[in-house]
Amino acid sequence: MTTTKPSGLAGIVAGETAICTVGHEGNSLNYRGYSVSDLAEHGTFEETAYLLIYGKLPTKTELKQYQDQLKALRGLPQNLKAMLEQIPASAHPMDVLRTGCSALGTLETEGSEHSQINIANRLMACFASMLFYWYHFSKSGRRIETQTEDASIASHFLHLLHGSVPEPIFASALDASLVLYAEHEFNASTFTARVVASTLSDFYSAITAAIGALRGPLHGGANEAAMELIESFHSADQAESGLLDLLAKKQLIMGFGHRVYKTSDPRSQVIKNWSRKLSEKNKNMSLFEISERIESIMWREKKLFPNLDFYSASAYHHLNIPTNMFTPIFVIARTSGWAAHIIEQRANNKLIRPGADYTGPAPRDWLPLDKR
Ligand code: COA
Repeated sequence: MTTTKPSGLAGIVAGETAICTVGHEGNSLNYRGYSVSDLAEHGTFEETAYLLIYGKLPTKTELKQYQDQLKALRGLPQNLKAMLEQIPASAHPMDVLRTGCSALGTLETEGSEHSQINIANRLMACFASMLFYWYHFSKSGRRIETQTEDASIASHFLHLLHGSVPEPIFASALDASLVLYAEHEFNASTFTARVVASTLSDFYSAITAAIGALRGPLHGGANEAAMELIESFHSADQAESGLLDLLAKKQLIMGFGHRVYKTSDPRSQVIKNWSRKLSEKNKNMSLFEISERIESIMWREKKLFPNLDFYSASAYHHLNIPTNMFTPIFVIARTSGWAAHIIEQRANNKLIRPGADYTGPAPRDWLPLDKR
C-alpha cells in the first residue's frame, strides 16, 4: 500500500532545538552557532562538550576546572568492574558500553547526589574506562588502572588501549574526531534519547537507549562497516572494480550518503585531512589511496559523497584502534550531544508520541478458537 508520508520521517520537523543546525545553509553544521570546522580546528573536545552541555564556550579557568573534573571521574566502582568481568571477550564493545551505562545507573542512580549534568560528565569521562577495563580483563585477565593523568578524553582513550601515553599528534587526531562526532541535531540516536527523556525516565535509560540506536550500521555502525569494505581491497585499482561490482548488485556502500546533507558532509574534509596526515606519519598511504578511489567512484557513479564515517575508518585504523572500537568512540563523543538534548527536552517537556496511518484490516468480528 502506498503512503503519501515520507518514509523514515525524512524531512519532518519533529521539534525545536537551540543546540545544533544541520545543513541549514547548504551543507553547514553548527553547534550553538559555532561552525564544526572551527571547533575541530581550533578547539578541543572538552570545549565542545562544555559548549553543548552548559550552553557557552568555557573561559580559560572554566576549561581547566572542567578538564580536572572530567579527569577525576575516570575511576570505576568495584561493583561495575565485577559486572564488566562477567562479559565475554566475544561481546561487541557497543554491548559493553550499553551494559556498562545501564549498570552504572544502578550504582550512581540519578537523584539529588547525581544530577543530570554530573551524570553526563561522568559517562563521558568513564566510558573509555569501562571499555578498556573489560577489553584487557576479557582478553588477558589483566585488571587495569583506569584513573590516568592524561589531559584529555582522547588521550585517556588511547592510553588505556595501548598502555602508554599517546604521541600528541595521535591524541589530537582522535580529539578532533570527537568534536566532529559530538552532535548532529535529531539524528536517530539523539531522537531516541529525547523520546525516552520525554517519558520522564532517568538519564541513564535515555543514554542506554541511544547507544542501542547508534549501534546499527545505518547510523554509528557505518564506520566499522566502512573499514571492513576498505580493507577488503589491496589496491586502488582493485577497489575500483570491486566497488563497481557492489554497485551493480545494488549494495549499500557504508560511509556514503546522508539523510540531510545532499552534496557533501562538512565533517568529511576535516577527518579526511586527518586521515591523510596519519597515513603520512605512519608512512603507509595504501588505505588512504583506496579510500580516495572509492570516493571518486561513488561520486562518478552515484553522485554520493563520503559522510563522517568514511574517512574516520582509515584515520582510526592509523591510530591502531581495533575496528570494533570505532562506534564506541562515537558513543563517547555523542554523549555530549545526547546530554544536551536530554537537558533541553526536560526543560520544556512534552511526551513524544506520534500517530500512524493504519494499514491493517477493517474492524471484524471475534472468532472463537474452533472457527479460525
Ligand atoms: N550506497 C549506495 N547507494 C546509496 C547509499 C549508499 N551508501 N546511500 C544512498 N544510496 C542510494 C539509495 O539506494 C537510494 O537509491 P534509489 O533511489 O535508487 O533507491 C538513494 O541513494 C537515496 O537513498 P535513501 O536510502 O533513500 O536515503 P536515506 O536518506 O534514507 O538514507 C542513509 C540515508 C545515510 C541511511 C543512506 O545514505 C545509507 O544507508 N548510507 C550508508 C550508511 C551510512 O553511511 N550511514 C551513516 C550516516 S551518517
